[in-house]
Amino acid sequence: MSRLTRRQMLSGIAACTVLGGVATNARLPFGISPASATAPDKAYPAAPQPPEGASIVDVDLIAKRRHGQILPPPAGASDIASYSDVPGLKLVRLRQGQWLRARLQNDLAEHTSIHWHGIRLPNGMDGVPYLTQAPVLPGQSFTYAFQPPDTGTFFFHPHCNTVEQVGRGLAGILIVEGDEQRASDADIVCAYRDWRLKPDGSFDAFMTDKGAATAGTFGKVATMNGVALPYRADLPSNGDIRLRLLNLDVTRIMEVGVEGTEAWIIATDGNPITPVKLETWKLGPAMRLDLLLRAPGMSGGKVQVMNYFSAQPVVLAEFTAAGAPLDRPAFVPAALRPANLAALNLDTAEQMPLRLSAASSGSSSDATKASGGPADVKLANGDVLRLADSLCLTPNTFWALNGEAWPDRSHKTLPPPLFKLTKGKTYIFEVNNTTSRQHPIHLHGHTFKVLDSSSQQILPHLADTVLVAPNERLRLAFVADNPGDWMVHCHIIEHQETGMMGYFRVA
Ligand code: C2O
Ligand code: CU
Repeated sequence: MSRLTRRQMLSGIAACTVLGGVATNARLPFGISPASATAPDKAYPAAPQPPEGASIVDVDLIAKRRHGQILPPPAGASDIASYSDVPGLKLVRLRQGQWLRARLQNDLAEHTSIHWHGIRLPNGMDGVPYLTQAPVLPGQSFTYAFQPPDTGTFFFHPHCNTVEQVGRGLAGILIVEGDEQRASDADIVCAYRDWRLKPDGSFDAFMTDKGAATAGTFGKVATMNGVALPYRADLPSNGDIRLRLLNLDVTRIMEVGVEGTEAWIIATDGNPITPVKLETWKLGPAMRLDLLLRAPGMSGGKVQVMNYFSAQPVVLAEFTAAGAPLDRPAFVPAALRPANLAALNLDTAEQMPLRLSAASSGSSSDATKASGGPADVKLANGDVLRLADSLCLTPNTFWALNGEAWPDRSHKTLPPPLFKLTKGKTYIFEVNNTTSRQHPIHLHGHTFKVLDSSSQQILPHLADTVLVAPNERLRLAFVADNPGDWMVHCHIIEHQETGMMGYFRVA
């Protein structure tokens, strides 16, 4: 990737304040011109240094367009984006206590960053362009370093133009081990996603107004671990199997179940739960479910992971018991070690309403115009470099949080936080879905407890993303113990990118 010369940049993007390859617009949210800037300077922290003697896992994540054969020939390879030349999703495994040091190299033609979904990390490592760090421009790199405090099943993804960057495949899985009190015989990751591909393998529009304004624009090619459904693998006969299910799609809500054996839920969004037998579980975009099950004792026995949230149940994965049966005592699902979260103080908790609604003006906003027009720059090699304005703003707003569509109407500055929370206090967000759609609502930097719902019996559980049904009022509680500015948004990415996003400040 060629780097822009200073002259090219100045001539091409007068309205943008990017100089000499350094993101000086870091303190000017949305790439606005200095004259109209009213946002205070924001100094973005660099990655913390792991202490002497720390055990560090180093990974290189090279965000880049690559060719991936998603559809079988005669369809061509698809113009995907990924973090590694190795096909498939990047999978990073750590032991609890280890540090992750991840060097993101941006070899894309647009800026990017990495958000570590579900990890309670220092704010500066949260990977939200403008809010917690400067966007990582083409040709630049950025190093993330943190020590995940919790075990579990997590993932990571970019946080601007997410609908396209994740739509093309840019995401990875992060597993923090160390929660098993009794080791399982197999630990299997199942990451689901759809692809918006045309029959010839090329990508279709990642986002449509119709989809963004309704349930989202669905992909046409369903995959588990990068292969067409159902994913197939062997299980050790009679073994204890840990299944980590991740819904990494940007749109699709699933209702998962297991056939062929009993399965027990042992963690929700990576957070341990007293094992409870799985009937079915709704898994919206970004949600994870860890299951424990006993593989059939007879070689050849089948276990299927199903999605019942469709006209006809869909087999997502099919496992076959293989080999001589392992000698195991009768199956009792073993609990994981509990998470180490600050205790909720519900008696003194402050209630905060969070209303999900349609945006008041349901259509085209002046976002890109107000910020100086789409800042696309044609590079010598034909690539189009897209900068802040056109990436982090959307021309349309359909959704809002507490009446505010992100970004606010003027787009002149970062909007104010939706909530200012006092560090250490317990808060109850009362999420009130006044729309006719479901929304998987995600909080950054914190793990919450889903307490109850106005419209359904809820199993209280810990989560970082929770599905809220139409007309449902759902209460979630958490201790605001992580200082900084944290996003709260819908994880149907088209909803997020058309207004259903805001942030809260913990200080
Ligand atoms: Cu996985 Cu702000 O998102
Ligand atoms: Cu939504």
